[in-house]
Amino acid sequence: MSNPLVIAPSVLASDFSKLGQEVRDVAEAGADWIHLDVMDGHFVPNITFGPDFIAAIRPYTDKVFDTHLMIEPVDPYIEAFAKAGSDYITIHAEASKHLDRSLQAIKDQGKKAGVSLNPATPESSLEYVLDRLDLILVMTVNPGFGGQKFIPSMIEKTRRIKQMIGDRPIRIEIDGGITPETAPLITQAGADTLVAGSAVFKGSTLESYRQNIAAIRAAGDAARR
Ligand code: DX5
Ligand code: ZN
Repeated sequence: MSNPLVIAPSVLASDFSKLGQEVRDVAEAGADWIHLDVMDGHFVPNITFGPDFIAAIRPYTDKVFDTHLMIEPVDPYIEAFAKAGSDYITIHAEASKHLDRSLQAIKDQGKKAGVSLNPATPESSLEYVLDRLDLILVMTVNPGFGGQKFIPSMIEKTRRIKQMIGDRPIRIEIDGGITPETAPLITQAGADTLVAGSAVFKGSTLESYRQNIAAIRAAGDAARR
């Protein structure tokens, strides 16, 4: 087991009216990263928030900000999301006509670069950009909403991605429907980074966040190879 399991709560499931406090609480409750879902109502059928919003919560924690851009086009906004305080910037393979160029733009900002794949997108689309990647984000639901059901065929896809990256230092992150029940299915296949929204923020108290994160971590860790 090379790198420790990372749990990245998605603030999409938090109470937006007190977002700064939610970020602070979830960090204290054991989150490793904070996952930020940016949606544009065009690439995905929902709208969330932009760079100013991320900049506003940046002072609330020093945890890694893991920005998941579900926007198209993406290139004109990379600099703004970098300046807002993102550490990782992940874009969708389906949303960039020139994926290699977009990844270089993220690197030029001094940020870690990730690519996300929708459930129907094959992992072969990443074959020629692997050396530019710090992270591959496997969507285990169709992006746009929290609280959806994990798609089991993504387990085999994750296994193939793990094989494809070989010994490159690329994290495999999973997003959608992660719970203590699904976490082991996917860490067993090679995932090392788990996003969870509803399964972390259920209960709405610091103590429940602590228990929820611990349950996902324990289940996920137990199945790692
Ligand atoms: C979906 C987002 C996810 C979402 C996950 O498009 O990318 O990060 O918040 O939510 P859950 O964990 O509830 O499936
Ligand atoms: Zn996400």
